[in-house]
Amino acid sequence: MALLMEAAYESLADLRERAKAEVAKVVLGQDRAVELMLVAALARGHILLEGPPGSAKTLLGRAVAHMLGASFKRIQFTPDTTPQELTGQTVIKGGEPTFYPGAVFANVLLADEINRTPPRSQAALLEAMQERQVTVDGRAHRLPDPFLVIATQNPFEHEGVFVLPEAQLDRFLFKLELHYPDAEFELGMLNLPHNGIAPDMLGEVKPLLGVVGLDRARDELNTTTVSEAVGRYVVTLARRTREIPGVELGVSSRGIMHLMSAAKANARLCGRDHVTVTDVRDMAPYVLRHRLIITDPSVSPDGALQQALDSIPAPVPTAVPSAEPTAATTLAPPSTSSPCSCRTHPRSRTQIPSIDVSDTGNGVRHRTFAPRSQQDLHREGRLRVSPLAGRPRPIRGKGSGGV
Ligand SMILES: Nc1ncnc2c1ncn2[C@@H]1O[C@H](COP(=O)(O)OP(=O)(O)O)[C@@H](O)[C@H]1O
Ligand SMILES: [Mg+2]
Repeated sequence: MALLMEAAYESLADLRERAKAEVAKVVLGQDRAVELMLVAALARGHILLEGPPGSAKTLLGRAVAHMLGASFKRIQFTPDTTPQELTGQTVIKGGEPTFYPGAVFANVLLADEINRTPPRSQAALLEAMQERQVTVDGRAHRLPDPFLVIATQNPFEHEGVFVLPEAQLDRFLFKLELHYPDAEFELGMLNLPHNGIAPDMLGEVKPLLGVVGLDRARDELNTTTVSEAVGRYVVTLARRTREIPGVELGVSSRGIMHLMSAAKANARLCGRDHVTVTDVRDMAPYVLRHRLIITDPSVSPDGALQQALDSIPAPVPTAVPSAEPTAATTLAPPSTSSPCSCRTHPRSRTQIPSIDVSDTGNGVRHRTFAPRSQQDLHREGRLRVSPLAGRPRPIRGKGSGGV
């Protein structure tokens, strides 16, 4: 199986395209979300998928888990879910204590509707995500490696929900906001094979990575080079979020590490061995927005992040340190072979990637990105995974859990 998976793609840039094609067998119109979920998986980061009911959060989580090809479990959170269901429990059997592992003992855990379970169970999951181990009856149990959580929540649910505190959100590498896709995709959904109302194509999604592939990708990430200028850019951007008026708590040190990991994974998936400022700016909304704690109701997380992005000049030109510490530094070559959604040069202002859908004539639909304004996208209803959706977030208490 591992050998088959190793042959499933030629490079990480190729993997990116294949991953989208596999997931598109069951989920239509969410290519950008798939790319970002792949970035997170390579960076070993947890994902929070947020969206209205029926926007394919669960289906996307399952399809991406299939595509990743590692061991998978799903837990549907309810008000009655106990921490033991997640972590496991020790039972005396034949006079001997025997550990029965809970749902977290999988490579990929789909934690569905995380905001429907009380804080005790949420905390058990969030601790496992952070520590990558659980302690049950005084004994520590390591979780499988890799351990990735894809959590979902519906922000439009108001009855009987337990909102995740902002400080706990810091444990998620990405928060992705899903939107309903446009009419053409919704029309396409009608032609997907279904068993009754249940989608019937998950078995068709080929596993591409497996544990071996994820380990290999991690090794590649670890050798991705970052110039000092880009490193400084990441730190300056994160620190600037702490100075924006109305922001009570900006990006944490953990957020800085997460942003760099995501930028490295994005660079690799674009076929590069070095990180550019554009990788950083492209990942910033998904990594940073949910970490801002804002007290001023007139400031939105998106607005604050945009201010931070706008106030920092991008370093020019990007110097690329060699993977060999002794080799000479060279200038970053402009990439010509990057997939369409990868950019190599920073724009003066981060623009929201527009998603143009064009029919290739063979029933396969693909997207190209063109610079469009956020307002245009919202007017057209085409912003599906919004990097900087202008919707102000309700201000909530700071919650517990350190950053
Ligand atoms: N983008 C999509 N592509 C294909 N099917 C979709 C899509 N969005 C919704 N569906 C259909 O709607 C159903 C509900 O999706 P689901 O993943 O349960 O939504 P959510 O978890 O967001 O409430 C899916 O099982 C699928 O049949
Ligand atoms: Mg669901």
